Amino acid sequence: MKDLQFKRHRRLRNSANMRALVRETHLHVEDFIYPIFVAEGQNIKNPIASMPGIYQLSLDQLKVEMDEVVELGIKSVLLFGIPLHKDAEGSGAFHNHGIVQEATRFIKKNYPEIIIIADTCLCEYTDHGHCGVIESGKILNDPSLELLAKTAVSQAEAGADIIAPSNMMDGFVAAIRKGLDEAGFEDIPIMSYAVKYSSAFYGPFRDAAGSAPQFGDRKTYQMDPANRLEAFREAQSDVDEGADFLIVKPTLSYLDIVRDVKNEFNLPVVAYNVSGEYSMVKAAAQNGWIDEKSIVLEMLTSMKRAGSDLIITYFAKDAAKWIAE
Ligand code: PBG
Repeated sequence: MKDLQFKRHRRLRNSANMRALVRETHLHVEDFIYPIFVAEGQNIKNPIASMPGIYQLSLDQLKVEMDEVVELGIKSVLLFGIPLHKDAEGSGAFHNHGIVQEATRFIKKNYPEIIIIADTCLCEYTDHGHCGVIESGKILNDPSLELLAKTAVSQAEAGADIIAPSNMMDGFVAAIRKGLDEAGFEDIPIMSYAVKYSSAFYGPFRDAAGSAPQFGDRKTYQMDPANRLEAFREAQSDVDEGADFLIVKPTLSYLDIVRDVKNEFNLPVVAYNVSGEYSMVKAAAQNGWIDEKSIVLEMLTSMKRAGSDLIITYFAKDAAKWIAE
């Protein structure tokens, strides 16, 4: 074997400390954004069957949850609302005392240092379950923008630190930026769901948020999973319209897109590790088929390696515990 020429890569894997020395990607608790489903009503702690460990929580249950979040060192939460009443316009989204607005006030008052990100969409609040205004079975773009801008302003008034519009109407970043600026919120950043695919991975979320469309699907506004160049077009227009962060969603089947967006644009990139990705891991782990901790940390690491700066994940609390161990 003496004359064989080859490179000895294993030298750098010889011990745990050697591996730590050359590790390229690290997870930090600051990377995680934890989604919370806040429900209008009292004494609500509804487990989501398809998302073990995740609950719909009424305001009175939020303290326990937020104490845990803070204790674990998580710095930011993403709020989704579940209203008692839905209507055609989704007026619960922009009501001054809507559930997200009230949850925001509660968190701001009791946990002033936590970054509150408000999801800005209509689908949880509309009786038809679509993310925009409907006329004759069509989802209208421009009339939806006004409602979104109104929603964003009411969330900012309640104290939201970041507005995260997820409804995928054209021009939503421009409309929200204008609305926020005119209301005096020019310092509130927009974390845009810039690249959001029409994905079956959102199934469990729609159970959690009660937001499944009552007819049709979201394919006229969310993106075709087969497309890559379209992601550049979507992200470019959000950058031009004034987005401050770019979300790519879902993540695991779209790590190539995360990398593309990271390479092409210079804004912070946020990977949304969505509900279906969470449910698959939980189901397999409950069956004893996989080692949950190793799988989750491997997945989250892959998202950062692919180029995401931040990760929205239902695993945030678990992962925070595991990386602190
Ligand atoms: C609402 C919204 C959805 C998700 C976040 N915001 C669902 C959808 O577009 O149907 C999905 C999040 C997840 O699956 O975890 N527009």
